[in-house]
Parts: sequence; C-alpha cells; structure tokens
Amino acid sequence: MKDAAIGVFDSGMGGLTVMRALMAGMPSESFVYLGDTARLPYGTKGADTVTRYAVQAVSALVKRKIKLLVVACNTASGVALPALNEAFAPLPVIDVIAPGAEAALAASPQGPIAVIATEGTVRAGAYERAIRARAPKVPVLQQACPLLVPLAEEGLIEGAIVDLAIHRYLDSLLERAPAALVLGCTHYPVLRDAIARIAGPDIVLVDSAATVALAVERRLAQDGLLREGPPMPHRFLATDAAKRFARIGEIFLGQRIAPGSVELVDL
Ligand code: DGL
Repeated sequence: MKDAAIGVFDSGMGGLTVMRALMAGMPSESFVYLGDTARLPYGTKGADTVTRYAVQAVSALVKRKIKLLVVACNTASGVALPALNEAFAPLPVIDVIAPGAEAALAASPQGPIAVIATEGTVRAGAYERAIRARAPKVPVLQQACPLLVPLAEEGLIEGAIVDLAIHRYLDSLLERAPAALVLGCTHYPVLRDAIARIAGPDIVLVDSAATVALAVERRLAQDGLLREGPPMPHRFLATDAAKRFARIGEIFLGQRIAPGSVELVDL
C-alpha cells in the first residue's frame, strides 16, 4: 500500500497548485490527479450537483488504487466532504478548507480574515465555519470572485483585464481592512502577484497548499503509509481536452506536463 498513489481531485486544472506543493513536500510519492475539466466550473453550481460530480470523479481515482485522497477543490471541500467520507470510507480524505483556516489563523490570530473564493464556497460558509470553530471571536469577511477562475483557466494571470477583475472584487473588501486574505480557491495562487500588488503590503496572503501538504504527510506517517525511495511517475486524468490540460496545466503545476501523460476519462 505504501507504493500506491495519492489521489488528487479538482474540478479542473487549478488543483495542480496543490499538487505542486504536495510534490515539493513529498518527492518520493506518486500522484494521480483528476481534473473534471468537462464540468468545470463547480463554483457556480449547486451543492447537490457538486456532490454528485465529486463522488463520480473520486470513484475514478479509487479504481486506480489510491492510498489517500486530497480534495484540492475548495468548492467540493466545502460542500461534498461528508458524502465523500461516507462513500469511500475507510479511505483517508484531506480537504483544503481546514488546513486553509489553520494557515489563516497562524498568519493573523486576531483577524479580521478575508476569504476570497467561488460563489459555492462562499455560499456554503465553509471557511467562516472552519475559522470560527478554531477562533470564535475572529471576524471573517467573504467575497466571491467568479471571474477569476475563467481568467486563470485562459492563462490570463496578469495585465489590465486581470487587474480590473481583482479591483472589482477586492476594493470594497479592502476598505474593511483585513489583516489576512485567504486565497480560498485552487486558481487564485497563479494570480497571487496581481492580488498581492492590489491588496498592498499590509495584508498577508494565505495559500493553503503548503499546509495541506503538511496535513497529508502527517496523516500518511500516522498510518505508516509514507513512501521512501526514488521518485515515481505521476499520472493525470482529465474529463475533457487532454491536450489543453497539458498546455495550460503547466502554469498551475509549475513544470512541464507531457501531453502523452494526460489520459482522457469518462465519468
Ligand atoms: N476548484 C474550484 C475551487 O477551488 C475552482 C474552480 C471551479 O469553480 O470549479 O473552488
């Protein structure tokens, strides 16, 4: 079982930002990543639909014999976690919201903490709940930023259009003087430079990827499932447009994805 892969699931390519941190933290592990590119975005869809899609997508990963599942998608983490835990027990499942809330509180124990995310994550109040559960008095502000996902998926990560979209969402949030800003969506880390420039130097940007990697490592160590030895090859599954996945996915993963390593799957 130690040699089994870690499954990483996202609605599209954005979760590759999480896989990047996982690969950096655990170079001996092999990963199988599934991006549900045919049905992205999840962030604008209802909770029932996202849950149904997430269970179908994770079934495809489970068929490939994974030892742990990382739900890299914030929207799916926010609404589908109970269903995933129930459907695939006893598979260990790590989501991105709890580690994100912990990273935010480590960066700003008193807050206010602002969270930017998809409409679905904001509607589910997932970050707010996770932060309040750990620090009930810390003020939490939320803002949905629906246009940022398509921009990042287009590979548009800087320039006038990007700045306009970020101003549109952040200006009113920034007036409320948050101390930390959580990038509560898989796609936002690639827009980090533009977001940081507009947010200004006084706000700490929080990205949960590194904290998720630590949580995964801790869980594998606890279960005696950490792999040692030389690096293993990684696999990529996409439900649509495998070539595009390889091309744009590189922006998120930060390294080359050979087009031949992306398999098209039908859920
Ligand atoms: N993966 C989603 C998330 O992190 C963003 C993309 C989408 O809306 O599907 O919330």
